[in-house]
Amino acid sequence: MNWRHKDLLHIGQLSAEEILHVFATAARFAEVNERPVKKVPVLKGKSVVLFFAEASTRTKTSFDMAGKRLSADTFSLAKTTSSLQKGESLKDTALTLQAMRPDAIVIRHWQSGAAEFLAQRLHCSVINAGDGWHAHPTQALLDGFTLFQVWDSFVGKTICIVGDIAHSRVARSDVEMFTALGARVRICAPRTLLPAAVSSWPVEIFSDVETACLGVDAVICLRLQLERQQAGLLPDLREYARIYGLAPRHLRQAADTVKIMHPGPINRGLEISAELADSGASLILDQVTAGVAVRMALLHLFLTRTQVAA
Ligand code: CP
Repeated sequence: MNWRHKDLLHIGQLSAEEILHVFATAARFAEVNERPVKKVPVLKGKSVVLFFAEASTRTKTSFDMAGKRLSADTFSLAKTTSSLQKGESLKDTALTLQAMRPDAIVIRHWQSGAAEFLAQRLHCSVINAGDGWHAHPTQALLDGFTLFQVWDSFVGKTICIVGDIAHSRVARSDVEMFTALGARVRICAPRTLLPAAVSSWPVEIFSDVETACLGVDAVICLRLQLERQQAGLLPDLREYARIYGLAPRHLRQAADTVKIMHPGPINRGLEISAELADSGASLILDQVTAGVAVRMALLHLFLTRTQVAA
């Protein structure tokens, strides 16, 4: 497949065939990641800027590792140590970075649309590593790849996303991706944590966790985004944990082989019980492992986009 995209901004820009091509490419790099020497020369001479204006452990580290394992040079820029602190605008920061001739900029930013803003102005590839509440496409792709390694197909599968849907860019991207691949998607949250436009989403909506998990093949818990909460949405965290914190009792009628996922970082005892997070059904650390391979696949596809053959 010839990769036709310059930028990765949201899942909706990818066809199902392209998503599966990302998975196939990631599977090749997952094998590299199991070797004693985890490095291949495919991006030698390429430069990748990791521009993270919001905190990150998984996404930033795995993009950094992905670039280095492909022999690209990676350069990190954080809000606190950049001239954003001195009032430089996003546009001027981006043009300054472009003047250094990187081949890609991976950006995480608190404003929805920040990645698209850059993509419209820069010649290099822009990869969205999470923008506001809008999208987190690389998280969705690694979530999909994690389950694809277990299932091989999404047709006939039901996936339930539980938690703070309103503030979650992961939920938006996961819904787009899993429905594109043929899965049924349910979401479950208190009414105050559902997005205003949820009726237009291609999902079934639940408010009771046990009912939402009836017969499901996978449950994705979302972090309660305490930093994005507006006053009054959640009167009591203990009450939220009691009702919406995923626990074994919610899964009594889920599929026997149900898988538990969480994009991380997890708040143990708040949105997920420690018992489930550490259980044999949990794929939480498999997601992290998959994240490196998926981000290697994405860097490879976007930085060699005229050369990739199926
Ligand atoms: N899932 C995720 O984006 O984690 P980080 O914030 O640690 O990158």
